[in-house]
Amino acid sequence: MAESDIPDNQPFVRIFDTTLRDGEQTPGVALTPEKKLQIARQLDRLGVDTIEAGFPITSQGEREAIKLIAKDGLRAEICALSRAEKEDIDAAIGCGVSAIHIFLAASDLHLKYKLMITREEALRNAVEAIEYAKRHGVTVEFSAEDATRADQEFLVRFFRSASEAGADRLDIPDTVGVMTPERMSNLVTKIYSACAARISVHCHDDFGLAVANTLAGIKAGASQAHVTINGLGERAGNASLEEVVMALHELKGIKTRVNTRLLYETSRLVSKLTGVIVQPNKAIVGENAFGHESGIHTHGILANPLTYEPFDPSALGRARWLQAGKHAGTHGIEAQLKAMRLYPGREELKEIVSKVKELGDLGKRVTDSDLYLIAVNVTKRDRSDRDLVKLVNLEVKTGVGITPIAHVELRIGEKIHSRTEVGVGPIDAAIKAIQSITSGSANIRLKEYRLDAITGGSDAPAEAIIVVEDKDGYTASARAIGDDVVVTSVQAMIQGINAILLKNIPSTYVTRAETKSSLMPPGEEIDSK
Ligand code: KIV
Ligand code: ZN
Repeated sequence: MAESDIPDNQPFVRIFDTTLRDGEQTPGVALTPEKKLQIARQLDRLGVDTIEAGFPITSQGEREAIKLIAKDGLRAEICALSRAEKEDIDAAIGCGVSAIHIFLAASDLHLKYKLMITREEALRNAVEAIEYAKRHGVTVEFSAEDATRADQEFLVRFFRSASEAGADRLDIPDTVGVMTPERMSNLVTKIYSACAARISVHCHDDFGLAVANTLAGIKAGASQAHVTINGLGERAGNASLEEVVMALHELKGIKTRVNTRLLYETSRLVSKLTGVIVQPNKAIVGENAFGHESGIHTHGILANPLTYEPFDPSALGRARWLQAGKHAGTHGIEAQLKAMRLYPGREELKEIVSKVKELGDLGKRVTDSDLYLIAVNVTKRDRSDRDLVKLVNLEVKTGVGITPIAHVELRIGEKIHSRTEVGVGPIDAAIKAIQSITSGSANIRLKEYRLDAITGGSDAPAEAIIVVEDKDGYTASARAIGDDVVVTSVQAMIQGINAILLKNIPSTYVTRAETKSSLMPPGEEIDSK
């Protein structure tokens, strides 16, 4: 349980979010000003204290983005990065930010090989830059780059001079992620006792220790953490915001101003806009963080979720889910079937579980639609009335120099709905058309999509596996196999939508809001018994 180790001077830890600066320095990531603004607004809703909006000297587009964010009236402090140079500080001031993050290297390695200046010159440059920025009335945070490989006596002098020059906050960057929690703790203790300003830590994840080092720094007296959503950042990235915040709240009893219920949607937005996929087994926001397959675990979860979860996923705005597969047990499968409104007898259930395991033994992922089909075959139930959404017609047009376009007609209840959409390809266009028909209150989105050829050759049957998610975070997976990749993908999507609409979610299985949304606008309700 929570250790109560909140130092007296720390009613809460400040969260300095650098997703839009260090996070954007992730190799291959570049955000337009509009996308940066969209993320900044979400970070503001999330409750971070500072948004480091970018590095103004980088480009015209970067300055435009920072200006947009700075004048958007957000609650968070808006900060820009700057070298200890007038030109950079002027560029930051020109963007209208209220805080400037000035950095200058402290390690001999950086001073000698990168900047080619002496320690004394570095000290003088830092002081001049801080005093110059302070004359413009902004908050100044000073980072001694590569602090963790610097001579510690010099580092203390460097930070002390920065503080005396007016720096409001002193940040200790572990620039190449070489610290361990114990070493971080010792270093922070040293700087904390030598300087009056607020101490911050900025940890990189080269050895996978960024979060642990951040927590150690906070325990030793730092009261601000530099973090990024999804742990984005240079090389292996920075300490991840969601992991640091949840560890502080849940394991340390230390508060931040972050509204944790927005963590999952923030992670998804950043992943979508940066194009950096979150690994499924990532802590807190990974898809599998609250997914359970093995029989022993699902049994425990159904009895009391705390048996195999550290906290309720609703704290993050998420829902738990169960997966059928070769490790599954009777309790989990029964709960999944109940959620699909299927209630097999004891012998039927045994047979379903054994068929699920057979499929798993073939190395197959058992989707919700597979489980559903196995169950209706074993129980010999007619499934035709279960499909709430049916494909009536699909036409696509694509080719060189043609914008791919798809026309989809779906039967929902008694009514036919049609839509035409364009996309990056015919599958994208068709999926968009389905989503636009079924948007309404159900608001189902495609979360995962995989298409494989089952055998070689251009006439090979295709297998599409999809995972869809509704607006409440409930997911359903589906598989379709067929000769035509577009039709097969569309069928998988429709099966996924049907699977999600069928779910009758019991409170032990999913603890979030249980009201199922209808696919139809008011007055066109489907009777989904
Ligand atoms: O990792 C680092 O040293 C940085 C500095 C700019 C603070 O990102
Ligand atoms: Zn960094």
